[in-house]
Amino acid sequence: MSECLRREIADQVSHLQTEKGIVPGLAVILVGNDPASEIYVRNKGNGCREVGIYSETITLPEDTTQTALEAEIDRLNQDQQIHGILVQLPLPKHLDEAAALARILPEKDVDGFHLLNAGKLMTGGIGVTPCTPKGALYMIHQTGMDLSGKQAVVIGRSNIVGKPMALLLLQENCTVTICHSRTKNLPEITRQADILVAAVGKAGFVTPDMVKPGAIVIDVGINRVDGKVRGDVDFDGVKEVAGWITPVPGGVGKMTITMLLQNTLEAAERAGQ
Ligand code: GUN
Repeated sequence: MSECLRREIADQVSHLQTEKGIVPGLAVILVGNDPASEIYVRNKGNGCREVGIYSETITLPEDTTQTALEAEIDRLNQDQQIHGILVQLPLPKHLDEAAALARILPEKDVDGFHLLNAGKLMTGGIGVTPCTPKGALYMIHQTGMDLSGKQAVVIGRSNIVGKPMALLLLQENCTVTICHSRTKNLPEITRQADILVAAVGKAGFVTPDMVKPGAIVIDVGINRVDGKVRGDVDFDGVKEVAGWITPVPGGVGKMTITMLLQNTLEAAERAGQ
């Protein structure tokens, strides 16, 4: 599913270069050496290469100060070659994540985490949409299901996935429930879901008894267990009940990067207008 979209993005990147002489550029800032983050950042760079987007990775040491991080963001905000800036999360504990994200120019915020973009999503305006929920919604649309009036349940309430996912499903006229670690009677609620999105961070958390027969199940989890990557959904069990299910790996993860490429392309197109 990602392949087809990436080919379209590559065509549009090439068109933008021919028509306007603009090569979209993405800068990724990685602070410290969290092994999982290093893999994600490498995959983002590879995605850029695949579609012809220029990319650079700025690696800062674990003990980087807030001032040094923000100085780097300021420099990239001014850089005409760079249309998208992404600060890989999580940052080391001593750094102020919210302040760093607020420092990125909203028009270069390809993650959609800046307050202005989060606010636009909240109020139905046109801003930059966070990549993981945007990719999950794209996959849900691919099923061909008419989403209007459907019951959607999102497990997880993070700013990166759970909350924006719920808002996107609401825009699609779903009836949306957000569940989290304090939710009572979770299986009872999830069994109502025509669309179930799992963004919990616990391997195999969603079991077949929690799924309505025929439901669309989107697994956003990336959990490392005994050296293997596993999702939040017990795939082998749930696939027997669900009507449609995304695997991990090979599901939402790749689509997230595809959406990052799309957000970067769109930021470059806006810069050229
Ligand atoms: N860490 C985990 N997911 C993400 C993401 O979508 N964007 C950034 N910047 N960091 C992340």
